[in-house]
Formats: sequence, C-alpha cells, structure tokens
Amino acid sequence: MGEVAIVTGASSGIGRALAVELAREGYRVGLIARRADRLDALAAQIRDEGGRAECVPAGVTGRDEIQRAIAGLTERLGPVDLLVANAGIALGTDALVPAADALEAEFRVNVFGVFYAIEAVVPSMRERGGGHVVVISSLAAHRGLPGAAGYCASKAALTRLVEGLRPDWARAGIHATTVHPGYVRSEMTERNRFRMPLLMDTDRAARLIAGAIRRKRKVYEFPWRMSLLVRYLVRHLPDRVLASLVRRDRERPEQL
Ligand SMILES: NC(=O)c1ccc[n+]([C@@H]2O[C@H](COP(=O)([O-])OP(=O)(O)OC[C@H]3O[C@@H](n4cnc5c(N)ncnc54)[C@H](OP(=O)(O)O)[C@@H]3O)[C@@H](O)[C@H]2O)c1
Repeated sequence: MGEVAIVTGASSGIGRALAVELAREGYRVGLIARRADRLDALAAQIRDEGGRAECVPAGVTGRDEIQRAIAGLTERLGPVDLLVANAGIALGTDALVPAADALEAEFRVNVFGVFYAIEAVVPSMRERGGGHVVVISSLAAHRGLPGAAGYCASKAALTRLVEGLRPDWARAGIHATTVHPGYVRSEMTERNRFRMPLLMDTDRAARLIAGAIRRKRKVYEFPWRMSLLVRYLVRHLPDRVLASLVRRDRERPEQL
C-alpha cells in the first residue's frame, strides 16, 4: 500500500495535474477544493487508471472546514505522509485606488489557507516521526510587481513562513519543500492579458514538481531560465525600468 498524499486546489491547473502524477507514483491521494464536480471527475479518472483517490469539497479559508476535510480523508485513506498545499488565488492590485479586499482574500487563501492545512497535518506527522509538507509559492515571491503587489506579498509571506518553520520540522523528521513556479498554463494564467515569458505546460510542471518532491528539495524553482532571470535581473531592476516593462507587456496583449 502506497503512502497518503493530500493535495489542496486539486480541481484545476497545477494541483489537478500533480494529483494525477502522485497517484501514478503510487500515492493514495486525497483531493480538496471547492468545486465538488471537478473533484469527483478527477477521483474517477485516477481510479480508472488503477489508483486510489478520495475527495472532500472544502474551502481552505475555513480553519474548521479544512481540519474536518483532512480528518475525513485521513479516516478513508490513512494518516497523511505528504501534504501539497497548492490552493491559491491571484487578484489584481490597483495601486492608485487602493482597496483591502483583494489583499485580504489573497492572504486568506495563499497564506492562512496554507497554514490551516499545515496545522491539520503536522501534529500527526510529528507523532509518527516524519512527513513531508510542500507549499506552492511563486517566483513572484522574489519581487513586488506592479499590478500584482498583493499576490507577490502573499507568496513572499508564504515562502518566509515555511523557511522559518523548516528547521524545527527537520528535527522532528518532517521535510519541507517550497516550490516557486514561473508561468504555468492554468485557469489562473488563462485570465492574464499580458505576455507570459516561458509559459509552461501544466503536465510538465506537475512532473517537475513531483520530481522535486521525490528528491525532497528544500526550495525548487522552475523553469530554471525564468528563475535566473527573476533572481538575478528582475529582482534588482530599478522601479522605473520594471514599471515600463510591465506596462509594455500589458499594452501589447496581441503578442500573446
Ligand atoms: N499558474 C501559474 O503560472 C503559477 C505560477 C506560480 C505559482 N502558482 C501557484 O500555483 C497554485 C495553483 O494555481 P494554478 O495556476 O493551478 O491555478 P488554478 O487553476 O486557478 O487553480 C487554483 C486551485 O486552487 C483552488 N482554490 C482557490 N481558492 C480556494 C479556496 N478558497 N479553497 C479551496 N481551494 C481553493 C481552486 O479550486 P476551487 O475553485 O474549486 O476551490 C483550484 O483548484 C497557486 O497557489 C498559484 O498561486 C501558479
């Protein structure tokens, strides 16, 4: 019998593709997101391929709701060996007409939603002497970007949060992997009306993340060319240069 993996945000995009990939690797997978029909279809697909999957529709921003969802999946599948806290949202940030709503929503899902899931699995991992927590942050964590300030801030918060938790977890045998993807095809990026350099296919992204999980990488960034670009160039660009590059991409969506 394989190990148990729970994936949040499994109803679409990276989470969906990664759940399929983990099931193919032999994990019994527990699927969480709000859209029940999508989760049912995914669980059926995994079972058709000979895997084991269970799902519980739930929102990650409800602390009790996510606790209950993970407890329900644990009852059906067994204790959690691997948590992939992937659910996330990206909303625009209007700098000149500031409103806290989008920022609050992004932090509720991208930071607190992740932490609630962590809170639900780590005590049992500690008791059992090991486990693996994977969070899907973003290359956007490296620099606040015009139009996406709230999203970047939420992903930076998530990255730093796990960085601070990791040393204590390591002493309890719990591994942590923080994933920083570049642009990946998904419902999230489908909405973007600007050029997305090195946009990657969803299944390929899922295979790369699954590989990083197998290798128990502490931090995993991809695609590597985008990672270098962001870490060594974008992150250090003067504000005016960055703003004009972002403006140029947004004003010429025909290049998509
Ligand atoms: N695509 C990219 O280029 C990219 C790049 C860097 C990082 N990321 C990160 O990758 C992760 C997956 O994103 P994606 O690109 O695959 O986008 P996506 O296709 O929009 O998937 C987002 C997933 O999160 C779930 N979700 C959203 N809000 C939720 C909530 N309140 N409670 C429970 N589930 C919720 C959605 O399911 P329901 O709507 O059914 O609840 C969906 O399954 C996100 O954390 C995102 O920030 C993506």
